[in-house]
Amino acid sequence: MSNTMSLQHLLNINSLSAECILDIFARAQSIIDIGAHKKQIKNTLAEKTIALLFFENSTRTRISFELAAKRLGATVLNVDIQSSALSKGETVLDMLVNLQAMFCQMFVVRHRDNNFADNLAKELMVNLDNNAAAEKSATIINAGSGTAAHPSQALLDGLTILQEKKDFRALKIAIVGDIVHSRVAASQLALFAKLEVAEVRIIAPEMFLPRRVENKRVSVYNDLQTGLNEVDVVIALRAQKERWASASLDDATYIKQYCLTKQSLASARDDVIVLHPGPINRGIEIASDLADGKHSRIIQQVSNGVAVRMALLEMLAERSH
Ligand code: CP
Repeated sequence: MSNTMSLQHLLNINSLSAECILDIFARAQSIIDIGAHKKQIKNTLAEKTIALLFFENSTRTRISFELAAKRLGATVLNVDIQSSALSKGETVLDMLVNLQAMFCQMFVVRHRDNNFADNLAKELMVNLDNNAAAEKSATIINAGSGTAAHPSQALLDGLTILQEKKDFRALKIAIVGDIVHSRVAASQLALFAKLEVAEVRIIAPEMFLPRRVENKRVSVYNDLQTGLNEVDVVIALRAQKERWASASLDDATYIKQYCLTKQSLASARDDVIVLHPGPINRGIEIASDLADGKHSRIIQQVSNGVAVRMALLEMLAERSH
């Protein structure tokens, strides 16, 4: 199988070529086709030790990276940040260098700081250059950084769309909700630009929209019904209240205008699919019957997450040899 992954780290979507993104989809799909995402029938990472460092809560991303690594035969460390020596003043870089000295090669990191993964990758490279005893390879995988990037989520969303719709360049995709605070939306917009999606619509009240939209294929809507007209894919986002600085929005007003319901999908294409990265807030950004209904691919996204993360781990490990 081809490997166009030329990167040491996975920090964002922008650093991946369209060809590499399609290779990740193809590898993830072949993992699904042989059932290797469900049980360990591959052993390609048997010599690797992978540490998960989550400074923010997670269900899907942390567990699917853990399962992905285990289903490739890797040793996995689920680092408990609360009980680590960080509380004694150790820096994260020193912690990573110590984990590396115990032959851990890959680090999956989530943090509220937008630049956390990027800075760690840079600092780690300097440290490796200066330290003769260190192994000369270490891989940082961004599992969510502030409002900036969540690349593996966008990739699993892309695979889910590809399984249903085949040609990105013919699609109209709507993203609804708290766009400006969403690292998922930031990575999805980067992914859809790389894949030349025909039209991306972002639909939200003014307070959830970015100040500027520079991509000519992205259009902005305040009205849900108008924005959903003839779309092939709708992605609902959670209101990221933990990232709001001062803004506030009354739940009842938001639900009335932006909660996705079966009725609000009436103007979309008949075969529209509905995605959500999770966690979902039922009755706020998406109605329960829509989340659980025939248009929803939310659970399919979660299953695809294991396969996409297996593909990513394999491709990054091959690159580091
Ligand atoms: N989609 C997502 O990142 O979910 P978690 O926060 O549960 O990882």
